[in-house]
Amino acid sequence: MGGLCCQPPCAMPHTLEKGIAMSEEQVQDLQSEHQKYVQDLGDWVRTHHCCELTAKDTGKDVCLMGWAQYRRDHGGLIFVDMRDRNGMTQVVFSPEHAPEAHASANIMRAEYVFAIKGTVRPRPEGMHNPSMVTGEIEVVVNEWKLLNTSKTPAFPIEDRTEAGESLRLQWRYLDLRRPRMTKNLILRHKVAQCIRRYLDEGGFLEIETPILTKSTPEGARDFLVPSRVNPGQFFALPQSPQLFKQLLMVSGMDRYFQIVRCFRDEDLRADRQPEFTQVDIEMSFVDEEKVMTMAEGLMARVFKDVMGQEITLPFPRMKYDEAMLRFGVDKPDTRFGLELVDITSIVRGSTFKVFGSAELVKAMKVPGGESLTRKEIDEFTEFVKNYGAFGLAWIKIRENEWQSPIAKFLSQEEKDAIAKALDLQVGDIVFFQAGEADMVNAALGNLRVKLGSHLNLIPANSFNFLWVTEFPLYEYDKEEKRYVACHHPFTAPAAGHMELMRTDPAKAKARAYDMVLNGSEVGGGSIRIHNGEVQRAMFDALGFSREKAEEQFGFLIHALEHGAPPHGGLAFGLDRMVMLLANQQSIRDVIAFPKTQKATCLLTDAPNVVDAKQLRELGLRLREKVAEETK
Ligand code: AMO
Ligand code: AMP
Repeated sequence: MGGLCCQPPCAMPHTLEKGIAMSEEQVQDLQSEHQKYVQDLGDWVRTHHCCELTAKDTGKDVCLMGWAQYRRDHGGLIFVDMRDRNGMTQVVFSPEHAPEAHASANIMRAEYVFAIKGTVRPRPEGMHNPSMVTGEIEVVVNEWKLLNTSKTPAFPIEDRTEAGESLRLQWRYLDLRRPRMTKNLILRHKVAQCIRRYLDEGGFLEIETPILTKSTPEGARDFLVPSRVNPGQFFALPQSPQLFKQLLMVSGMDRYFQIVRCFRDEDLRADRQPEFTQVDIEMSFVDEEKVMTMAEGLMARVFKDVMGQEITLPFPRMKYDEAMLRFGVDKPDTRFGLELVDITSIVRGSTFKVFGSAELVKAMKVPGGESLTRKEIDEFTEFVKNYGAFGLAWIKIRENEWQSPIAKFLSQEEKDAIAKALDLQVGDIVFFQAGEADMVNAALGNLRVKLGSHLNLIPANSFNFLWVTEFPLYEYDKEEKRYVACHHPFTAPAAGHMELMRTDPAKAKARAYDMVLNGSEVGGGSIRIHNGEVQRAMFDALGFSREKAEEQFGFLIHALEHGAPPHGGLAFGLDRMVMLLANQQSIRDVIAFPKTQKATCLLTDAPNVVDAKQLRELGLRLREKVAEETK
């Protein structure tokens, strides 16, 4: 066998060569023309992947299969970079070595799928490519087969792409061929396998829990699934397997884990998807220390096995109150400073009304920030408005002068006290936020994170872990005008805080903990309530009637009354973890087929309209306005 089964016409233009343009139509015509040269694999067996061959393999006869990345024609030789999942190898078609194979190779186009049989040889002196693992060798082709043609891809299959994310998501299977994306998925696989090994060795059982489950009143963000056989009734997709994993502890399973899809119909951001993956874990007969030690061990194992890095254990811990005070957020990025300082007591009663009467006033000093321009400051002012702020006060510390729109409103005494509290130096800028506590913390806390990257304060390749502990049990929901569980309503109150659930919910602390990595919440969990009466008291505190609690969560309460062991656990966000390890900015880049910010899939066009018959079978009818809109 030599070359292709039927000889192609010679002297085709080279669409693969950069700079030689053909019209789209010409290219597609060529592709249909080339289809007739496509062959079966026959008895060809791949011997190596495209990343494996090195100088040590010189002289070996090999068979490779993959996609054509580039073709270059040089002095009679045709070079093609063959790409597969693992890398790239240069293959050479030589007119002297194999004239038939060489003659037919001119049909090769970008993303054509092909197989070669050939011999490994060193590249000539000076032609080595140190940026390729296989850069010292090439494979000179004896014979080859075209396995399939390809239309011209919507964007070149290269790491550096100008294609926007929408185009990439629409052609996701092509996007995933780009080495960076392939690498992300390989990393994700390795992390998942490493976690499985660690948990298996630790005696955890991998157990599946239902995907069609029960909607709960706390689950305002449930995705609902109508039941055809029970018209008018709905399943909900799980926001997490929380209740099932607790039931498994009551069943005596002792240690459970699952790498599991969770569904939340919430507003999306770069680190949130409507379906995402948790590494969900639960353990019996444990306290916070045991769960946290297990979770630290898991991270250490992932870093060692997957990244080849040692991390320091145990992780530092910070109480929630301290995190909010110093960083304004409950997931502080501790890789840089710019801590917030509470100056409420200094400006209490100030004639500057914005400060004088505010619930909370905080300041953030940016050393050397005096050089920030008006334009930058305006941009930061717009930024904090996303968090409900009206403005952003600032002061530049100059020699003998405080340059600021607000300096004139502050007394000398106030200025001195601020300068002392913040240890101000000439050249600094200070940002201030005054108002309601939640807004002030959110505005300055998030501005701090923005400044961290804006001013390049974040060291490269550093991984800062932190446990945030002693979360409040409840947070006040202003819209609903009632307390809701801060973590979830199955979290145990801190020792001695049972009574506070009733008397002063705002003060009650929870046995909850979050694992934070570089300012991102990668995992969270708690020790659970394992006593039916305490669980009932929790629902009372959340404003459920006994009947409602029974209807919604009766199955859990009854389980707790049937010999529930003390238990606790946590769940990691696998997508976020892999995003941070892969040094990506969005979890979409580590998910094979993610949704857009608008929760749609551009590849399949989901969600879509279904026909009236399907709706009828499910006992559903669209409201007139919606029906009109979807027409
Ligand atoms: P929680 O709601 O904190 O806890 O979720 C656990 C972890 O899952 C990740 N995560 C997300 N990742 C991507 N997109 C989302 N929309 C999203 N939402 C959450 C985060 C988070 O830390 N049942 C409890 C866990 C427990 O108590 O054991 C739970 O679901 O990284
Ligand atoms: P005003 O006197 O309202 O013009 O505000 C003076 C300065 O304070 C301006 O720079 C505003 O951006 C800023 N500012 C307004 N409201 C707040 C606030 N709640 N916290 C911090 N700065 C504010």
